[in-house]
Parts: sequence; structure tokens; C-alpha cells
Amino acid sequence: MGSLCWQMGISFWVFLSIFWSVFVNTKVENGSVLIDGESGIAEIDANFICATMDWWPPEKCDYGSCSWGQASLLNVDLSNKVFQNAIKAFSPLKIRLGGSLQDELIYETEDQTEPCIPFSKNTSALFSFNEGCLPLSRWDELNTFFNETGARIIFGLNALNGRELHSDTSTTGAWDSTNAESLMRYTVKKNYTMYAWELGNELCGSGVGARVTAAQYAIDTMTLKNIIEEIYDGIEPKPLVISPGGFFDANWFKEFLNKTTEILDVVTHHIYDLGAGVDKDLVKKILDPSYLDGEADTFKQLENILETSGTPASAWVGEAGGAYNSGHHLVTDAFVFSFWYLNQLGMSSVYDTKTYCRQTLIGGNYGLLNTTTFEPNPDYYSALLWHRLMGKTVLSTNFTGSKKMRSYAHCAKESDGITLLLLNLDGKTTIDVNLSVNTPLKTRAQIEMVVQDTKTGGSGTREEYHLTAKDGNLHSQTMMLNGNELTR
Ligand SMILES: *[C@@H]1O[C@H](CO)[C@@H](O)[C@H](O)[C@H]1NC(C)=O
Ligand SMILES: *[C@@H]1O[C@H](CO)[C@@H](O)[C@H](O)[C@H]1NC(C)=O
Ligand SMILES: *[C@@H]1O[C@H](CO)[C@@H](O)[C@H](O)[C@H]1NC(C)=O
Ligand SMILES: *[C@@H]1O[C@H](CO)[C@@H](O)[C@H](O)[C@H]1NC(C)=O
Ligand SMILES: *[C@@H]1O[C@H](CO)[C@@H](O)[C@H](O)[C@H]1NC(C)=O
Ligand SMILES: *[C@@H]1O[C@H](CO)[C@@H](O)[C@H](O)[C@H]1NC(C)=O
Ligand SMILES: *[C@@H]1O[C@H](CO)[C@@H](O)[C@H](O)[C@H]1NC(C)=O
Ligand SMILES: *[C@@H]1O[C@H](CO)[C@@H](O)[C@H](O)[C@H]1NC(C)=O
Repeated sequence: MGSLCWQMGISFWVFLSIFWSVFVNTKVENGSVLIDGESGIAEIDANFICATMDWWPPEKCDYGSCSWGQASLLNVDLSNKVFQNAIKAFSPLKIRLGGSLQDELIYETEDQTEPCIPFSKNTSALFSFNEGCLPLSRWDELNTFFNETGARIIFGLNALNGRELHSDTSTTGAWDSTNAESLMRYTVKKNYTMYAWELGNELCGSGVGARVTAAQYAIDTMTLKNIIEEIYDGIEPKPLVISPGGFFDANWFKEFLNKTTEILDVVTHHIYDLGAGVDKDLVKKILDPSYLDGEADTFKQLENILETSGTPASAWVGEAGGAYNSGHHLVTDAFVFSFWYLNQLGMSSVYDTKTYCRQTLIGGNYGLLNTTTFEPNPDYYSALLWHRLMGKTVLSTNFTGSKKMRSYAHCAKESDGITLLLLNLDGKTTIDVNLSVNTPLKTRAQIEMVVQDTKTGGSGTREEYHLTAKDGNLHSQTMMLNGNELTR
């Protein structure tokens, strides 16, 4: 008898688990996982994994540390083979281009007479930088790079153009789309493929630096939709219309979604739930299950609003770096951050998020790749394993036992069966997991596994991927897979 995730019986399991180390555990506890294999509770995109690239110049510094180097869209080395291969490995990786400075970015146009100058530091300007400009020659290079690496591009447009910004961060006026439209026309003329055009960055709700009302934003999003209809006339597939790319605010989102039911494809929100990068308690928060659960409420509220607003739009996390102001070196670019990241991927999926964009692919202290060497940080491997193992159908999954154990299950990606992701936040306890699945036959498949070392056993075919920190060090930038160091 067939089922949701398999053809015949339960023949195949994939386990992806993450825990500190095989050395440090001292205690053993029992726990059990119950998975509902009869029906899915949500569906993610086949290409759920997305990462961002930003515009920050090398002069961007936070708390005395300048972590961006040459990792901006304007200067990153596109000829680097390690970089290219890191993207190709996903075929395709979604890449969202944007961030704070996107709303201060001017695009060079073919008829432009003004010089196209880079961002310059100015502590009294918005985000401490003067307006900058994207040269068309760089846009050409970027598109060649994205095409060759098979990336799917979401471009974040400057949505502050034409508005007046007041000292209380409010704005007046409509979006002036002239410059954006020129860039879009050029892009179409050159046959560059855009997966989506996104309008604005963190201007919704109370905004970051500047804010726009939901009613005005809906009008501006309509303007974007009309431009796309016009310049992509006869061209398929048409890029998606995405907005607003900012922090969730229930009232603002409700009004915005109510007014954009005919035009919006994807609603995006940003996540920095751990606080500032300089925070001394980041690791404590990451390993605290009730802290991690805090974000569930946002996902739940957004899912409810989408269900009741009559919009066909789906939800994406458009940018999530966990800790704002560029993250924290040896936390957001180290092993420990995979607990936060994998938990976010699992939790957002449960609430029907279709795509999750990690800040960043490269740049800041939260890159999936090292800013100078392009070598993968631990979260790169977590992203890649998720991409290869976690299928589209999300299954209801409950863990009973230690609160430090978290579990997420999806149908497997490329085979029959189920992939179970287990996160053991407890560095001192081995958890012996008793696993049960409800099947249409009303029987329970039983399998036992031990989640703190790599012991195998049980019934059926199984593949296991156990992630640990090198030397049991949470701050290590080297991840171990089944006891072996992960390297390129
Ligand atoms: C775990 O369960 C096994 C089998 O039911 C039992 O023998 C063992 O005592 C339990 N261990 C703990 C720590 O409760
Ligand atoms: C898990 O718990 C939730 C809430 O109690 C429940 O609705 C769901 O059916 C449970 N899932 C399974 C697989 O037992
Ligand atoms: C710095 O920014 C402020 C505010 O936008 C502006 O008035 C001033 O002219 C800028 N200074 C320079 C040197 O660009
Ligand atoms: C790359 O460009 C070619 C030629 O324009 C096009 O057929 C192909 O779809 C592009 N690939 C991607 C991933 O954009
Ligand atoms: C874009 O594609 C069209 C149709 O395939 C082709 O005629 C045109 O030459 C291409 N333009 C460029 C700049 O490659
Ligand atoms: C939007 O809100 C108004 C007023 O509450 C309501 O009448 C209308 O039906 C809503 N539209 C949609 C598409 O939900
Ligand atoms: C990048 O990699 C180099 C070489 O391994 C290392 O020295 C450096 O600390 C890394 N940079 C960051 C920001 O992690
Ligand atoms: C595993 O869980 C199932 C269902 O919850 C239960 O019937 C069984 O006794 C448990 N086995 C162990 C060894 O705890």
C-alpha cells in the first residue's frame, strides 16, 4: 500500500542530526518521536534554500569590526572557482540581492549623464552612507556570473526613490519608479533572467531608518506589477512580484495583503530574533529551546493572515541573519549557529514558508562562505544537506522527552521515505530516540536510534548524517559529518 512519502512499506529513512560532539556526553535519556505519515501539514518550494548578497562596502563597520571586506555585489571576485562551485552545488540556489543600502542605490542607465559613483561613508546620512551607484558594466558581470552558476535571482529594488524622508523616519510621496524601470528594461533587453523583483528593504511597519504606510506600499507594488506586465509582455516566465522585505508587523501586513490580493506573488519578512551581533548571550539564546520557540508566533500569525486575507501570495523569509549589525564572528559563522539555522529552516517550513533566504551567502560575520577565502562555513553544509535531503512535504512531528531535543520531518527529497532532522541542544546528554510513524495501515513502524553517537541499527534502509563540532567546540568553524571533517 502506497503512502504520502513512499511506495511500498516504510523502506527508507534518512536521519540528519546535529549535536555537539561524540565526546562530551555523559548522561543517557529516553525520548520518542511521533511522525504523522498520513498527510502533510505544509509544502515548501523544491528549492527552499536561498541566500542573500548585499551592497555593504568595505567601510561598513559594527562595534569596531569591519566584516564585509570585498564581499559586496559591487566588488566581490566573481571569477573565484570556489565561489562559483559553492553556488553550482545547489543547482539552483536562490540568491536575493539587497539589504539596507538597496534603498540608496542608483542604477546607471544607458542615457545617464551623471557619473556613477560608489557608496561613500557619511555618518549623518541614512545608514551612514551616501547614495551609491551600480554601473551597468558590473550588472553585466553579475548576470553572466549568475547565469553560469545557475542561480535564481531575486533583485531588491530601491523603494525610497522619489519619497521625502522626515526626521521621525516617516516618508511622504509615492515611489518614483523611473530609474528602476530603466534597469528592468535594460535587463530584459539583455535577456538576463530575473526570478523575481522585490520592492524595498525594511520600510514596512515601524521601518528601519525609514517607513512607508501599507496603503502607499500597496500602490507602489501595483506600480511595480504594471511595469513588469508591460516590459515582460510576451516574455515567459514572468518574474514574481515580491514585497515588502521587512519585519513582520501584524496590522501593517494585514492591510498590505488586503490591498494587494491581485498583484502580489510573495510576501517577504526578515528575521533577526537573537538581537544585536554584539550581544554576549547569543550562544545561550541559541541553545535555549524556549528562546528558539519565540519565533514560531511570527510564522503562525503570518500564516493565519495569509489564510484569511484571500491573497494567493505565499510567505518567504526574505532575509534572516539571526543577529543584526553583521552578526558575531565565531558565533554566527561557527558550528553553533547551525542549531539556530536548521531550527529556523525546520520551524518556518512547518508554518508553510516556501523559501528561506539566509543573510548572507558571503559578507558580514554570518556568511555561509568565508569572506576572504570563499571556503564554506559550517552553515553552508547544513544548507546543502537540507537542500539534498528535505523534500517538499512537511510532516507533523512531535518529540516527547527532553526539551533540548527538537525534531522536524519531511518526505525525503530524492527517494522514497522520510527524512527526520533531530537537533540535540544538550551537550551533556545522549538521547535514545524511539521513533514511531502513523501509516495509512494504522500500524506503527518502529525504529530505535541513538542521537548522540553514530551507532546504527534498526530496521529498513537508512542513511544517517550526523553533524558535530570539531573537538566538541561550539565556536569551531569546522563541521564534522559522521566523524569526518567537512572540507571542499
Ligand atoms: C530507556 O528505555 C529502556 C527501554 O524501555 C529502559 O530499559 C531504560 O531503563 C530507559 N532508560 C532511562 C534512562 O529511562
Ligand atoms: C503533534 O501535536 C500537535 C499538537 O498537540 C497535534 O495537533 C498533532 O496531531 C501531533 N502530531 C503527531 C504526529 O502526533
Ligand atoms: C552627508 O549626509 C547629509 C545628510 O544626508 C548631507 O546633508 C550631507 O551633504 C552629506 N555630506 C557629504 C559630504 O556628502
Ligand atoms: C542563461 O542564459 C541562457 C541564454 O540566454 C538562457 O537560455 C538560460 O536560461 C540562462 N540560465 C539561467 C540559469 O538563467
Ligand atoms: C535575446 O534573445 C532574443 C531572442 O532569443 C535574441 O533575438 C536577441 O538577440 C537576444 N539579445 C541579446 C542581447 O542577447
Ligand atoms: C479588505 O478589507 C476590507 C475592509 O475590512 C474588506 O471589506 C475586504 O473584503 C477585504 N478584502 C479582501 C480581499 O480581503
Ligand atoms: C576565513 O578563513 C581564514 C583561513 O582559514 C581564517 O583565518 C579567517 O579567520 C576566516 N575569516 C572569518 C571571518 O571567518
Ligand atoms: C516506543 O513508542 C511506542 C509508541 O509510542 C511504544 O508503544 C513503545 O513501547 C516505545 N518503545 C520503547 C522502547 O520505549
